[in-house]
Amino acid sequence: MNNLKNQLFYKFALIVFLIIVFFEGALLIALKKSFDIHLKDKLALVASEINPENFSTKTLLQIQHKNKIFPLFVKIIKTNQKIKINKKNHFSIEYLLNQKREKLLTYITQKHGYIIKIATFYSTNDDKIEIIKTISLLISFIIYLIALMVGYKFIDTIVKEIEISFKKLRNFNSNVSHEFKTPLAIMKTEIEIALMNENKDCNKIFQSILQEVNYLNEITDKLLFLTKNDLKNCKLTKIDLEDIVFELFEKYSNKIHISLHIDEKDEYIIKGDKTLLKIALGNLIENSIKYKALKINIFLKKTKNKIILTIKDNGIGIPKDKLPFIFDEFYRVDESHNKNIKGFGLGLSIVKNILKAHKAKIKVQSEKGVEFIIEFPNKLE
Ligand SMILES: Nc1ncnc2c1ncn2[C@@H]1O[C@H](COP(=O)(O)OP(=O)(O)OP(=O)(O)O)[C@@H](O)[C@H]1O
Ligand SMILES: [Mg+2]
Repeated sequence: MNNLKNQLFYKFALIVFLIIVFFEGALLIALKKSFDIHLKDKLALVASEINPENFSTKTLLQIQHKNKIFPLFVKIIKTNQKIKINKKNHFSIEYLLNQKREKLLTYITQKHGYIIKIATFYSTNDDKIEIIKTISLLISFIIYLIALMVGYKFIDTIVKEIEISFKKLRNFNSNVSHEFKTPLAIMKTEIEIALMNENKDCNKIFQSILQEVNYLNEITDKLLFLTKNDLKNCKLTKIDLEDIVFELFEKYSNKIHISLHIDEKDEYIIKGDKTLLKIALGNLIENSIKYKALKINIFLKKTKNKIILTIKDNGIGIPKDKLPFIFDEFYRVDESHNKNIKGFGLGLSIVKNILKAHKAKIKVQSEKGVEFIIEFPNKLE
């Protein structure tokens, strides 16, 4: 896993570096362009305001002050020859003689039979760009360091999550193998006995095999249900929670004593999927039966924003320190607590996933027995 973390981190650092270099480059090009355009605009403006037929130092000074640009020189040459100046060759940049840094920006145009040539220093803009470049490099470096630190933390969390998932997968594999192995071994022995006792009454043996097949079927159904990931997109319609509670009452009241506490004056309409909700609530009731409850109380309540369904039993309860984990896949409170009650640790994960698809919250508390409190949003749009 450390290797994966390093690899991810190096790749992340490289990508962030390339992104920063790209933006830094784009920023500098844009800056340089904007300074050039600025200077070029000004030169062109000064040239356009010069009237070559009435040119004097005084008018030039006025134009210079007005436009806040002080050209190095202005040359006005009378000519009858028409010179071709297109947009591109209006401007030229050249180094001043023997000066490495100082550059000259020249603008040339023709007006009323005169050629106007006007030039200014180019180096001041370069200096400004230098300063901005240094500041932006410093900022980029700080951003890079921060991105690396945040990225490292982020990658660390992801890798830890992957590690947990791997661990769960390993547990899952061993759980599945274990759960499948026992019934398969029983079936194998039963079949071998059946084959040995050619004509004897095989009913008992086949019944035992059927029991194991049913068990394997039940686990397979649960696993398949959990691996189906279309729960998020399940179609929710207007349904009455009270109807679901009554149907569950009918289904389970011969197995456990169920008391309903529902205010008949209220309506408990939510947006939901009836089949899925029956599976979820059925799982909770089946757990109560499985974990030795003799009685279940079911409460339905309505507030302004929520419809609250509570299922409270008087079974063996769950130790408080184990409560945060019971909705995790494959989690079971240890065997000594469950007293060899069979299970796979998948029921409550199914409940959690179904309720999530309904935007409902589930809370659990355990004093004497267990109490699950489910809050559905009380809105239908
Ligand atoms: N009503 C309850 N009373 C006591 N313990 C409970 C109750 N409901 C859940 N638990 C505890 O929470 C654990 C997780 O429950 P969950 O329904 O996910 O799995 P399971 O019942 O062990 O197996 P499965 O439902 O997959 O057959 C159980 O192992 C059990 O220890
Ligand atoms: Mg269960």
